Amino acid sequence: MKEALNLQTLKSNAKKKLNGYCRVCPVCDGRACAGEVPGVGGTGTGSSFMENVRALSAVKINLSAIHGETSPNTTISFFGQHLKTPIMAAPMVNYQINTGGGLAENEAAEAIMSGTHFAGSLAWVGDPVDEEMYSQWLEAMNRVGRGVVIIKPRLNQDSILEAFDKAQQNGAVAVGLDVDGAGLITMKLKGQPVGPKTVRQLMELSQSTKLPFIVKGIMTVQDAVKCAEAGVDCIVVSNHGGRVLDHTCGTADALSDIAKELKGRVTILVDGGIRSGTDVLKMLALGADGVLIGRPLIVAGYGGNAEGVEFLINKYTEELYASMILTGCANLQQIDGRILSRKF
Ligand SMILES: Cc1cc2nc3c(=O)[nH]c(=O)nc-3n(C[C@H](O)[C@H](O)[C@H](O)COP(=O)(O)O)c2cc1C
Repeated sequence: MKEALNLQTLKSNAKKKLNGYCRVCPVCDGRACAGEVPGVGGTGTGSSFMENVRALSAVKINLSAIHGETSPNTTISFFGQHLKTPIMAAPMVNYQINTGGGLAENEAAEAIMSGTHFAGSLAWVGDPVDEEMYSQWLEAMNRVGRGVVIIKPRLNQDSILEAFDKAQQNGAVAVGLDVDGAGLITMKLKGQPVGPKTVRQLMELSQSTKLPFIVKGIMTVQDAVKCAEAGVDCIVVSNHGGRVLDHTCGTADALSDIAKELKGRVTILVDGGIRSGTDVLKMLALGADGVLIGRPLIVAGYGGNAEGVEFLINKYTEELYASMILTGCANLQQIDGRILSRKF
């Protein structure tokens, strides 16, 4: 009989296999890996990664247990998909260069896509630029039957649309761009230059695909409003896990103003530094409709393949469930600013 997984075994298995590429710290906060990009760190001083964790930890919750909410509902509908949890897997690719290849790209793709699917959730696929790696992720997505694909903001709009088509043929339920990848000068060397997008260009992309269109990498109200003007269906408040620009604010700090402006008009997701179900609760209280988890799922995949990924998403979902009981929230829609100890 297989031994049941626990967090400790998962982390110690992962640590051996990650071979120093990720130290699997007690708290994944960007200190040990500062500047390690490529790698799993944040860029430069690592402050944008660290700030994500700090901003979230500064949010405090009102505990309340005098009420009748005994069995909260953590389910969510995301572009027609019924999910057991608002916690999805963030797009992360290039395991060879970022995590040392202890898991090959196809093994990582399988672990993330299947593990997330077993947990009743949805995994997002990034853009590895390399055609073969992209195909490996799409094959894994095809096997589970659904996923979300995020493409780099290439200057050539047609090449984005081609990638969207391929994604759709392989079961993508939504597609989008990580616009915060606009400054990746290495992409030019690979013959795929990237850059920022205008409202008109976003509109063109959103109108050229039949799938819901997502923009990931929004950190200001102005950019969020531009997305809404362009007909974007979903934004992800994200600084790419602090990997693209040093000294940004934490995503938890950017989220509430964006949500005040756009809640209900576009779907609002957020990522960056989320390390527990209670962190998920905080992000939803600040105005997100759902969240993405990044680095902890790399550790989970290394430590226990698909089962490890499933384990961690289930664990965070159980923690979210318990925190909903302790804040009197019957469902995700009831989680709002009232459960926080100060106004944001
Ligand atoms: C190794 C690694 C690779 C990543 N690759 C991509 C990518 O290809 N596309 C993308 O949109 N974001 C990418 N990201 C950013 C994540 O999607 C996500 O925004 C971030 O990791 C969330 O922060 P967290 O890791 O603190 O949870 C990557 C992050 C890491 C750590």
